Amino acid sequence: METVVSGIRPTGNLHLGNYFGAMKNFLKMQNENNCFFFIADYHSLTTHPTPADLHGSVKQVLAEYLACGLDPEKATIYLQSDVPEVIELYLLLNMNAYVGELERTTSFKDKVRKNPENVNAGLLTYPVLMAADIIIHNAAKVPVGKDQEQNLEMARKFARRFNNMYNVEYFTEPQPFNFGESLIKIPGLDGTGKMGKSEGNGIFLIDEEKDIRKKVMRAVTDSGPTEMNSKMPEPIENLFTLLNVVSEKSTIDFFKEKYATCEIRYGDLKKQLAEDINLFVAPIREKINDIKSNDDYLRKVAHMGAEKARESASKTIKDVRKIIGFKSF
Ligand code: TRP
Repeated sequence: METVVSGIRPTGNLHLGNYFGAMKNFLKMQNENNCFFFIADYHSLTTHPTPADLHGSVKQVLAEYLACGLDPEKATIYLQSDVPEVIELYLLLNMNAYVGELERTTSFKDKVRKNPENVNAGLLTYPVLMAADIIIHNAAKVPVGKDQEQNLEMARKFARRFNNMYNVEYFTEPQPFNFGESLIKIPGLDGTGKMGKSEGNGIFLIDEEKDIRKKVMRAVTDSGPTEMNSKMPEPIENLFTLLNVVSEKSTIDFFKEKYATCEIRYGDLKKQLAEDINLFVAPIREKINDIKSNDDYLRKVAHMGAEKARESASKTIKDVRKIIGFKSF
């Protein structure tokens, strides 16, 4: 069984794109691997949240991931800040992480450009902390999107550098987890492109029925097909992609037929789509709210996760301290 580590930034809410993308993969991975899923709350301090915001968003993501089916019995689910061993490894790795290479990472340069008033050292060493998160459990695989590939490459570099420096084969170089072609891309409601956090085109798992209806009814369409059996333009195809994941086959077939015969009424299609999205999301939404109001359960999950994560992390730290040459008298 391979060890998998993934960090979850406590920002924003899960939308349908996340649900059918990353989340589906997490659910599969937790059955097949030794998974460590953690909430990257230390990382989130680079943007200086207030204490209330920090706690609120950590609680929110934890509840959302649990509601979707992340299982604390199968995976180790924890808060990064509950595992101080990570910070020790971060400090140790920082000694061999060079300011020049950190300054050259694209995500750092992006952040400097976007927020020139907040170029803090935590931001600069973000990839070092991320490397520590990963190699503290000696992970073989990390599920990452395109935007995190460079950070993962740096994690490999820091692992290799440590091994070379002390002439050991201690850390595994973590590889990206490859899902192949299994990913369903969920489109946004604005005609083109996929559903995203920042695009403002998302339907969130916590959206109420009326929000869902409003969003779907506003989705971009066109004036309708004029030729029998014509190919759908992207905005219309997108609505069908959504229908495909939430609706009954008979519903999908019905609207496909209406499209093919130029009799489709987009208003009807959207009404049905909104209803089916709501039916799909409602039980998850309820579960999120149940979990959020159950502090006992959240505490239990966090305690259990912290214990398991610290067991794995402290073993690494013990070995690393020995390799580096820390010795007690
Ligand atoms: N940087 C990741 C992101 O922005 C979050 C993260 C932190 C992470 N530590 C990690 C992801 C370790 C995978 C492994 O999404």
